[in-house]
Amino acid sequence: MKEAQRLLKLPTYVFALLDKLKAEEKAKGKDLIDLTIGSPNHLPPKEVVAAFIAALNEPNNHRYSSFEGDLDFNYAALEWCKRQYNIHLEKNEVVQLLGSKEGLVHFAFAYLDPNDKVLVPLPAYPAHFRGPILAGADVIVMPTAEHNGWLPDLDSIEESIAEQAKMMILSYPTNPTAAAAPPEFFEKAVHFAKKHDLILIHDLAYGELYFDGKKPISCLSVRGAKEICIEFHTLSKTFGMAGWRCGFAVGNSQLIESLRKIKTNLDYGPFPAITKAATVALKMHNGYMAKMRQTYQCRRDIMVDGLNSLGWKLKKPTATFYLWVPVPAGYTAMSFTQHLVQHAGVVVSPGTGFGELGEGYIRIALVDIDDRIKEAIERLRKAGIKYA
Ligand SMILES: Cc1ncc(COP(=O)(O)O)c(C=O)c1O
Repeated sequence: MKEAQRLLKLPTYVFALLDKLKAEEKAKGKDLIDLTIGSPNHLPPKEVVAAFIAALNEPNNHRYSSFEGDLDFNYAALEWCKRQYNIHLEKNEVVQLLGSKEGLVHFAFAYLDPNDKVLVPLPAYPAHFRGPILAGADVIVMPTAEHNGWLPDLDSIEESIAEQAKMMILSYPTNPTAAAAPPEFFEKAVHFAKKHDLILIHDLAYGELYFDGKKPISCLSVRGAKEICIEFHTLSKTFGMAGWRCGFAVGNSQLIESLRKIKTNLDYGPFPAITKAATVALKMHNGYMAKMRQTYQCRRDIMVDGLNSLGWKLKKPTATFYLWVPVPAGYTAMSFTQHLVQHAGVVVSPGTGFGELGEGYIRIALVDIDDRIKEAIERLRKAGIKYA
């Protein structure tokens, strides 16, 4: 039984190897500090949990969601965008999602045909390149590296390549490199997309996870961006609701409508009780988020200072809960990951999980409490692991 080409064409899933490695070490009874998946461990606001429990007692919340979406949720999402990012949107410019990953991948299916070309910076969150591949499209890599702040160099893209492309996918602050982009970059990206007739996707999953007062901007805040751009938002990271599967997309009404169209053929929308509780989350004001940011900033400081005491020379990233860490000489991303699991019981993601250009790096997700992060550093120290 031969799988469809769309599955066969996917690059190797390195995280499957990692899962095997974890299972082997766990079977030996080892206590692993797992800093692999960006699954936040801060709790959702208690008001949100209470709203969910209350919504469970309402019989209508156990039926299918409506195809048009929940108007209260949509309104709360639009208000949120205005309050948090100063972007003004109309009611036909939003669609609720079962998490932004679902929306990103289905958007690829809504707009890409086999052999269409998509510009994607690498390293990247896997759905940014796996979504287009699943839709049969070809990914044109925009390489990013430390010396250019992990931003693609749009000036270096050949005219003929840009003209062939149909779509460009960006996401800043970015997973896995934790880089943020300045407003000028978004202006340039919107200009570039318009010039070459590209659909511009911006994934703002980490819009609220920033430090040192460096708040990220929405791509839609660039003048004229709405003509070509769709932006993806999620409650997963901001409100510690990754398991709830709730996000939304905003932007150009035609792009939103096509995403809604493909979704009506694939799913029945979220569990209404989740939508009701998520609406409460979107109406919350900033006390909760300030505390959440403090939590991750503190973990960032412990981990960066700890690694630097072992020879690394890391700068503190201004956003996301990731650290993008070069591996010591003599290791690959995968062999260093293996070494960390086997000798220190610390599990991280090999950079190659985020595309080939992630070779030479590991990604650490700061998804455990301060004491465990301190312990991770001590385990590295005891195992003689250092950067040289
Ligand atoms: C850049 C980026 N976008 C989207 C997602 C997925 O978010 P969601 O839980 O909304 O599907 C992640 C998860 O790690 C991410 O890093």
